[in-house]
Amino acid sequence: MNVTVFGIGYVGLVQAAVLSEVGHNVCCVDVDKVKIDKLKQGVIPIFEPGLTPLVKTNYDEGRIRFTCNAEEGVNFANVQFIAVGTPPDEDGSADLQYVIAVAKTIATHMDSPKIIVNKSTVPVGTADKVAETINDTLRSRHSDLSYSVVSNPEFLKEGSAVADCIRPDRIIVGTRFNDNKLQIQDTFKELYAPFNRNHDRIIFMDARSAELTKYAANCMLATKISFMNEMANIAEKIGADIEYVRQGIGSDERIGYHFIYPGCGYGGSCFPKDVQALSKTSEIVGYKPQLLQAVEAINKHQKNKLMIYINQYFKGDISGKTFALWGLSFKPKTDDMREAPCHVVMESLWAKGASIQAFDPEAMEEAQRIYGNRTNLTLMGTKEAALSGADALVICTEWQNFRAVNLNLIKDTLISPVIFDGRNMYEPNKVKKLGIDYYCIGRGLSISTPQI
Ligand SMILES: NC(=O)c1ccc[n+]([C@@H]2O[C@H](COP(=O)([O-])OP(=O)(O)OC[C@H]3O[C@@H](n4cnc5c(N)ncnc54)[C@H](O)[C@@H]3O)[C@@H](O)[C@H]2O)c1
Repeated sequence: MNVTVFGIGYVGLVQAAVLSEVGHNVCCVDVDKVKIDKLKQGVIPIFEPGLTPLVKTNYDEGRIRFTCNAEEGVNFANVQFIAVGTPPDEDGSADLQYVIAVAKTIATHMDSPKIIVNKSTVPVGTADKVAETINDTLRSRHSDLSYSVVSNPEFLKEGSAVADCIRPDRIIVGTRFNDNKLQIQDTFKELYAPFNRNHDRIIFMDARSAELTKYAANCMLATKISFMNEMANIAEKIGADIEYVRQGIGSDERIGYHFIYPGCGYGGSCFPKDVQALSKTSEIVGYKPQLLQAVEAINKHQKNKLMIYINQYFKGDISGKTFALWGLSFKPKTDDMREAPCHVVMESLWAKGASIQAFDPEAMEEAQRIYGNRTNLTLMGTKEAALSGADALVICTEWQNFRAVNLNLIKDTLISPVIFDGRNMYEPNKVKKLGIDYYCIGRGLSISTPQI
């Protein structure tokens, strides 16, 4: 089949690569000319395990193409994916301007019937808004071409996006009331057949339910994280160890081990904005989303957690100090720094007159792009180099190669040997035995046990 994908970011590029890998022909359209030019030269603009060979091979073999020419993209295929960003608006609701812009573009150039597919995470009712936009544009062209709008939200995880698209847990396809369901179902069965051989993963439903399914999934995962962070904060106050508690509850299969790691807050381009956007939608329809608001408030608090420790340890006096910072991406195996906990730490340290020596295995280019050259941030080539001349170490991301470290080297290199660990990477007793002060999350405490 021929498929066009508008928006070649983390979702669009990975989906396009995987669809072309199974034999579909994919036209990728983006407004970012620099990105498209890079892709044509075989330079992949994001880090995602397994993505580079997939894109290069399929480009060389002619199954995937890149263009800024929207008309070319519209004419290329009957199935048009919209995978552009939906960042939060000022009031927390999802900003749909990019989605609507693509809908207008498709309607402006289409000269045959189209199936328009929302892959972006969009509020309930967006399929109808996209349809309205297409309707208005076609009407202004005096055209009566037919079209359908389908909600097909994406569930990939950055860091394992390629594998997730090749073996999706589920494929949600939501159709609108008046659209031709049978034709849409046949199209999606054919499109996703290569990913559906082992068992049927496609769940057909109405568009509104499909749109809400995506938000419900992300909000559920964010809730698990905030729940665990709340438990960690309680554990810390009462002298319990959240790592034992985590193992104790994770062994209950109704709870499970996933997404119950305490830490310095969730980030990324999805959880923060999706929790906010669903809260906003709820408020608009007159329902107070108490749980979602609590999830967000706990996360905000948690992103400040390391700064609370740092201020406590240095008695608020950190002006002129240098902090080694390990981990800039919002989670391991990605270079994505959107809403990463490190931003809160960095901005707070700078506001108090401290400097930072940072290292991340993949996000150094992104950090350079975001922060440019500034005197109070030095991007270091290795995690060891980041320690040199630093007063303390702060860990924001649980990269695998931060786990097995030479603690003696850390002790000998830091001026005042102290680690502020937002990801519970080490055994507190082992670290403290070496004479390193160690602050982590919810481990009863690496500080002192209060009387209750
Ligand atoms: N990143 C994830 O892990 C993930 C997972 C599931 C769902 N989503 C959702 O998917 C959507 C896309 O997310 P992303 O992380 O891939 O975004 P992204 O910011 O990485 O990429 C968006 C791309 O769209 C392009 N674009 C903007 N306007 C355009 C237009 N008019 N025509 C063509 N291209 C245009 C941008 O230049 C950019 O390259 C969002 O709604 C997001 O919530 C993201």
